[in-house]
Amino acid sequence: MPAAVLVGAQWGDEGKGKATDLLGGDVDYVVRYQGGNNAGHTVVIGDQKYALHLLPTGILSPEVVPVIGNGVVIDPGVLLSEIDGLAARGISAERLLISANAHLIMPHHKALDKVTERYLGKARIGTTGRGIGPAYGDKIARMGVRVQDLLDPGILTKKIEVALTEKNQVLTKVYNRRGIDPAAVLEEYLAYAERLKPHIADTSLVLSKALDEGKFVLLEGGQGTLLDIDHGTYPFVTSSSPTAGGACAGAGIPPNRLTKIIGILKAYTTRVGSGPFPTELEDEMGEWLRTTGGEYGVTTGRNRRCGWFDAVIARYATRINGITDYFLTKLDVLSGLERIPVCVAYEVDGVRHDEIPMTQTDFHHAKPIYEELPGWQEDITSAKSFDDLPPNAQAYVRALEEMSGAPISAIGVGPGRDQTLQIRSLV
Ligand code: IMP
Repeated sequence: MPAAVLVGAQWGDEGKGKATDLLGGDVDYVVRYQGGNNAGHTVVIGDQKYALHLLPTGILSPEVVPVIGNGVVIDPGVLLSEIDGLAARGISAERLLISANAHLIMPHHKALDKVTERYLGKARIGTTGRGIGPAYGDKIARMGVRVQDLLDPGILTKKIEVALTEKNQVLTKVYNRRGIDPAAVLEEYLAYAERLKPHIADTSLVLSKALDEGKFVLLEGGQGTLLDIDHGTYPFVTSSSPTAGGACAGAGIPPNRLTKIIGILKAYTTRVGSGPFPTELEDEMGEWLRTTGGEYGVTTGRNRRCGWFDAVIARYATRINGITDYFLTKLDVLSGLERIPVCVAYEVDGVRHDEIPMTQTDFHHAKPIYEELPGWQEDITSAKSFDDLPPNAQAYVRALEEMSGAPISAIGVGPGRDQTLQIRSLV
């Protein structure tokens, strides 16, 4: 059986949780492959709402094995409190597997994330402040602490001491902060080790065997294509690779196992943090989208910046990820508008660009060229099939599909599990 990837096609927060949950019945393993607790998935089941940051959404389906892959950076304290929070609501995380090769977010990563952002001032990235960038930085610099180090107190002690010898100099001498006590960190992390031990596994091997046995593996990204460290709006990006290529590296699965690359695309656009956003609406229309769409961050509670659908970005996401199917989310939010502008290209210094400009300088100056599509007034939240949608909503979906260059196979018309219109199978 194949593996499928779920990838955000914009700047994250497209509604990946709902898509993962929709596939839940067909899926045997759900793997988070990058990011950390900077992500936030909201899943609504019945009258219960679950906000997940680090745990794969598969945790909510008892028949699914949730896996945290090697490409993730883990804050163990956050992970355990998420596990405890679910346990208090009767959901067990006993099945959870954590890659021995995943990296740990350490207290100095969180301290450095906050302090470097403060020093950047106006040039700040607007990170979630969870230590994500510094943890990936140490991973690439080969100074990281990995999950498997929790199994060897001797190594763990050495790694914490080595890291803090340098990082405490930086914290105290460059940033004028207090140093971090290695003994306290060791004690804290040894306590985490006790609780996490039963979950630690060679997850790449587990997944390889599962695929050989015909199991279905879903790889779930955090963030989105435009936040990718290589393919996003650098430097206003996260420090990992949410794109489909990153899924293989971050889960330890070879590319030829992937059969479906499912892009999650919101019917309009949002972004959190700094950086270019050509279709952003900084007026009452933007505020209307924010309020109507409930566009407030699951992780940080920050207001999301809101704007119209950008087909240039969707086309880019189709190309970079090799999208086979789109799941279009939050179509219901647009109900009630007379006309809906859609960005079809950009204008940069008088020149039309049908693709994302090559340089960041040009992208910062990109002005959207809009095409207006007729809106619909009907409430679509109880639609059960594509044919139930008003003709203008159908035409909007068809237009987005045409412009994006990949088929829209499912449509979200509300937050509930049952508020999804399936046009063709996603597995
Ligand atoms: P970091 O991932 O905390 O380093 O933040 C880097 C950038 O990615 C910032 O602009 C964040 O707002 C953005 N970001 C990180 N995670 C998410 C997410 O799950 N959704 C949307 N934006 C995110």
